[in-house]
Amino acid sequence: MCGIIGYTGPRVAREVVVSGLRRMEYRGYDSAGVAVLGDDGIEIRKKAGKISNLDAELAQRPLPDSGTGIGHSRWATHGGPTDANAHPHVSANGRVALIHNGIIENFAALRAELEATGVEFKSQTDTETAAQLLGLEVAGGADLADAMRAVCRRLQGAFTLVAIDRDQPGRLVAARRNSPLMVGVGEGENFVASDVSAFIEFTRSAIELGQDQVVDVTADSIEVTDFNGAPAESHPFEVTWDLSAAEKAGYDWFMRKEIYEQPQAVADTLLGRFTPDGALKLDELHIPEAELQLVDKIIIVACGSAYYAGLVAKYAIEHWTRVACEVEIASEFRYRDPIITGSTLVVTISQSGETADTLMAIRHARAQRAKVIAICNTNGATIPRESDAVIYTHAGPEIGVASTKGFLTQVAACYLLGLYLAQVRGTMFDDEIRVVMSELAGTPKLIQQVLDGLDSVKELAARFVDQKSVLFLGRHVGYPVALEGALKLKEIAYLHAEGFPAGELKHGPIALVEDGIPIFIAVPPQGRDQLHDKVVSNIQEVRARGALTIVLAEDGDHEVEPYADVLIRLPKVSTLLQPPVAMAPLQMFACELATLKGYDVDQPRNLAKSVTVE
Ligand code: F6R
Repeated sequence: MCGIIGYTGPRVAREVVVSGLRRMEYRGYDSAGVAVLGDDGIEIRKKAGKISNLDAELAQRPLPDSGTGIGHSRWATHGGPTDANAHPHVSANGRVALIHNGIIENFAALRAELEATGVEFKSQTDTETAAQLLGLEVAGGADLADAMRAVCRRLQGAFTLVAIDRDQPGRLVAARRNSPLMVGVGEGENFVASDVSAFIEFTRSAIELGQDQVVDVTADSIEVTDFNGAPAESHPFEVTWDLSAAEKAGYDWFMRKEIYEQPQAVADTLLGRFTPDGALKLDELHIPEAELQLVDKIIIVACGSAYYAGLVAKYAIEHWTRVACEVEIASEFRYRDPIITGSTLVVTISQSGETADTLMAIRHARAQRAKVIAICNTNGATIPRESDAVIYTHAGPEIGVASTKGFLTQVAACYLLGLYLAQVRGTMFDDEIRVVMSELAGTPKLIQQVLDGLDSVKELAARFVDQKSVLFLGRHVGYPVALEGALKLKEIAYLHAEGFPAGELKHGPIALVEDGIPIFIAVPPQGRDQLHDKVVSNIQEVRARGALTIVLAEDGDHEVEPYADVLIRLPKVSTLLQPPVAMAPLQMFACELATLKGYDVDQPRNLAKSVTVE
């Protein structure tokens, strides 16, 4: 989720690029950089930290007034947020500078190949691999666009790339696969950017590049091809949004945008997790396999939505690894004197990577000699730095205070960890792991399918604007889904909402059921007959007491039909994979209801995105 901009035309490129980066600041960043084509070749300034650090660097070491330049604000994936890892990256032969958004899955193999021929790398990024390959292509005589196409054909994963070549001034070449790229069409000047907000100050005519396309841009021309050089069709449009809408890609709230980003975010979490021979690999997990084999207890520690992601993970991890897994609210952890030994594995989950309660739990666990693995979305944050190992979720910045894509990618990352532990400990066969992985890899499409059918949920919210209380029920992994659905409503719609395990109803909560109270019920897939049938009975119990039942059930589940006042269909998946497809309707219901009530969805009262106090 980096911010990318390129410019060529009569203006001072450095100024256009830096102001574009500033307008994309909402995307989040941990470093920023600019490259321009000067009389002495490519000149670069880049700095870790805020864009103001780059401003200070530019004030101290100004760049020439060139008309062609590229700029990048980074959200680190491979390699920490340092000056050296900031973009642009220059090829060792000094020919090209390149910026990148996304993850190049096969960078390790490409890097090894280049290093074997003597190419020296200056950073730990996957991006530099593409820069080096591109530099070699142009040095071999290729035109910049041909060179870009040749490089793209070798890359796997998700990428938007933009490059300039020292010897081909006035030209930008960009490419995209599974990552956004817009061209801003000006008069006698053109722009490329990951997002129209970067250039709408200058032009509102834009072109959205299609999948696997390359665009060759000068001040007066724009040529789009596929990765083989054949002319390709792209999608021209006029930007009608104002700047604040443009930042949200036209959505009214970041939260809504982030709900719709979930298919891509989950796909990015799963990217690059296999070795060429099909084994699951977690690059960032620098804990020796022998130590993971000795683990006799797992404790997941987290707060809020991240805690609920941990509750989902417990079902999967215990099932796959046969190791006992506890899940604990971080703020309670160290005060109850938990039983931790050198063979306890503590897994912490945090989107921000700065949550004080979680951090304190990590310090306590490590003081007791436990190994700590962090699942985190923010590269270089305190929690991954203070842990023994980290798995990044690669969801891109989450700006809406209520977690959405953060939660789903945490679940996906926990599943990766569970399967990896099962592989290392031999509790699953390789082909069993591959079956689950391939189902997991299919979830982004299914989440998209759910998102495409959310109109009825939006209409549903309108019926409950004056509602005082909403309940959520689930069983097995549906239970944490119920908790997370209730949390969304509390956070942004300020409603009393509770999630319960459906089987617990009769032990008390059923007393809350009164005429007309809406109850969301997540029904497990029919494959788990007992579980499924028990939940169908629970629906009947609450309906008999006057509840209005809003039932989330898989396609083809006809048994629930007589008892559902409202039926929300979910795609067919196995039980453990239902949370990723069941969440979006609940998130959207909360978002829609809060909008109708006139609340600030992105910044709800009393809440902060990053909770750095205990
Ligand atoms: C819920 C929410 C919070 C966070 C919690 C942990 O929508 O955003 O409950 O999940 O504060 O935050 P992180 O994941 O940053 O540690």
